[in-house]
Amino acid sequence: MASPLRFDGRVVLVTGAGGGLGRAYALAFAERGALVIVNDLGGDFKGVGKGSSAADKVVEEIRRKGGKAVGKAVANYDSVEEGEKLVKTALNTFGRIDVVVNNAGILRDRSFSRISDEDWDIIHRVHLRGSFQVTRAAWDHMKKQNYGRILMTASASGIYGNFGQANYGAAKLGILGLCNTLAIEGRKNNIHCNTIAPSAGSRMTETVMPEDLVEALKPEYVAPLVLWLCHESCEENGGLFEVGAGWIGKLRWERTLGAIVRKRNQPMTPEAVRDNWERICDFSNASKPKTIQESTAGIIEVLHKVDSEGVSQNHTSHAAPAATSGFAGAVGRKLPSFSSSYTELQTIMYALGVGASVKNPKDLKFVYEGSADFSCLPTFGVIVAQKSMMSGGLAEIPGLSLNLAKALHGEQYLELYKPLPRSGELKCEAVIADILDKGSGTVIVMDVYSYSGKELICYNQFSVFVVGSGGFGGKRTSDKLKAAVAVPSRPPDAVLRDVTSLDQAALYRLSGDWNPLHIDPSFASIAGFKKPILHGLCTFGFSARHVLQQFADNDVSRFKAIKVRFAKPVYPGQTLQTEMWKEGNRIHFQTKVQETGDIVISNAYVDLVPASGVSAQTPSEGGELQSALVFGEIARRLKNVGREVVKKVNAVFEWHITKGGTVAAKWTIDLKSGSGEVYQGPAKGSADTTIIISDEDFMEVVMGKLDPQKAFFSGKLKARGNIMLSQKLQMILKDYAKL
Ligand code: NAI
Repeated sequence: MASPLRFDGRVVLVTGAGGGLGRAYALAFAERGALVIVNDLGGDFKGVGKGSSAADKVVEEIRRKGGKAVGKAVANYDSVEEGEKLVKTALNTFGRIDVVVNNAGILRDRSFSRISDEDWDIIHRVHLRGSFQVTRAAWDHMKKQNYGRILMTASASGIYGNFGQANYGAAKLGILGLCNTLAIEGRKNNIHCNTIAPSAGSRMTETVMPEDLVEALKPEYVAPLVLWLCHESCEENGGLFEVGAGWIGKLRWERTLGAIVRKRNQPMTPEAVRDNWERICDFSNASKPKTIQESTAGIIEVLHKVDSEGVSQNHTSHAAPAATSGFAGAVGRKLPSFSSSYTELQTIMYALGVGASVKNPKDLKFVYEGSADFSCLPTFGVIVAQKSMMSGGLAEIPGLSLNLAKALHGEQYLELYKPLPRSGELKCEAVIADILDKGSGTVIVMDVYSYSGKELICYNQFSVFVVGSGGFGGKRTSDKLKAAVAVPSRPPDAVLRDVTSLDQAALYRLSGDWNPLHIDPSFASIAGFKKPILHGLCTFGFSARHVLQQFADNDVSRFKAIKVRFAKPVYPGQTLQTEMWKEGNRIHFQTKVQETGDIVISNAYVDLVPASGVSAQTPSEGGELQSALVFGEIARRLKNVGREVVKKVNAVFEWHITKGGTVAAKWTIDLKSGSGEVYQGPAKGSADTTIIISDEDFMEVVMGKLDPQKAFFSGKLKARGNIMLSQKLQMILKDYAKL
């Protein structure tokens, strides 16, 4: 059995502990070793009079029980309205204050119209102001010692209302409001604050409860919850509990999905409210916001929906279907093209932003424009294209009526066709490649092509997950999405680490991602993070740098492509640990935060160009490949039927057959001109589709053991150009490649 909950050495102040519930708490704390301040003003239940006997009696009881395991007690007779004095007693007697139980209370029940100013004020002074005064007096001591437990006492009268208790109910729920904020402000100093609404027989309730109930509902059935909530091992903070007769239940807020009753650019009317009343009040599928951030996020979502869609009255703040009806039209839509120009200043700033440092002499070429081999980091390719994600980009596509404030960067693919120039101007064309319905959200896949003049320099694919907007009946997967690939299950071949600086995000944002989430603490808190987070693409830059350093000697011309999945946020200051596995020219990797062990980038890889260069294949090597036999066979069989097949296919396919991660042979199947032709080497004109596959996998495909589509999704087969044409290729392989 786990050890009993003890309070040895803890100093506990219980207000109103001369009777009823407070007395039960004081006795229970002392019994478990606490040093208790038994406070009680000693007046009657209406707050009239005062005296020392109530508190003294309880102190005496504790002393009588005294034994080794029992703590000590001291009395205090001040009103909670003078909170400082109570806390002073604790400090003078025991030297510290660890726990405050705000329990003191009185009643002045009257039907509403008969409540006098005095009845109102005294109730508020004792309950709400008293809880404030006592807690405030203890607060700074708790902060300094980085520890505190506070208990507030509310009442069902406040939560639900009760005839004749307007003054009392208002003060009691005010106490809950006080607790809610203290729970937030105290959290970072390990000060927890919780509230109970008890039911117990006491002199206070004997005026309203039948006698036998007063007897049955013992204060001892409430005290154990109070002790648990005030124990150092209890993590509960900001909770509200009803408790009595040995039962304990937790309460929370619930909110209907509600209805938007306003249309864009039109006045909001009471009639629209009336007409939507049923839905406003319908608790089916209700949400349960836990924080003000969750609550306000819903409101912000409404603003976005009304403003961006001019939505009708039939949209709830959580419903997606109507909001997503324009998706079909958005797929294939091009964004206005834009250009990105940069100088060495931007590439150096980027390199520093992703952790390149003069500490590492091999990094000098990324941060010093005077280096003989000054280079732009390959992952700067995302910076060139990122404008498509920002204002003027994705957010403004007609038909894409999603709340992009709820968008998370899910995955990123980047492919370079030649090293990025050290400075220049690239023209970017972006297109919505696909939109997927993931149930819990929507994935937008966007392709961005960046050109220098007419030459394609790089290709980016951004996948963005928009939380909470799925379920519109769309498809779940897309052949347009570059597949992430699981890392091997063996231990990594290499691990590199870098400690990010506290200013990492502040530095990285200078490369153009100005989202305040990465720098502004209050914005980060609204978004639900404890502090500003690092840009996912910053972590991406660190990891790619690690791969390049470890496996390509920082040679940017060896960088071909990278694919990552963003799994978790990183906080500036944490250590990034890139775990890498080499499989031919593919370096699989995942990135962890060393301090927590959390995987922050998963299922990732970098494809490198072989050190010897792509075109280094030799015919003799090609001749040893098994695939050579197959191409020979295809050539033979096509001889007779070539013209017919050319009519059906009308495309040129170029094959890159790899061996040990290096391109060992190139073959072309030209089914576009004349009666077709199969030859070794790259396409004489241009290829419609280029397929890259290892010799072994090629043979598996030909022998029907590996499905080409599966090979594509698992990354074994890569295709460039017109991928749809490879469907036709399947037919050729099926009919003409059988050995
Ligand atoms: P109680 O009347 O037995 O105990 C309250 C104690 O507070 C008394 O000993 C009283 O002398 C003391 N007190 C009153 N004003 C004070 C002041 N200004 N400074 C210091 N001490 C003062 O009542 P009970 O039932 O034990 O109530 C304890 C708390 O629980 C109260 O806050 C009450 O409102 C709350 N509560 C009790 C319920 C119940 O079913 N007993 C129901 C809901 C709330």
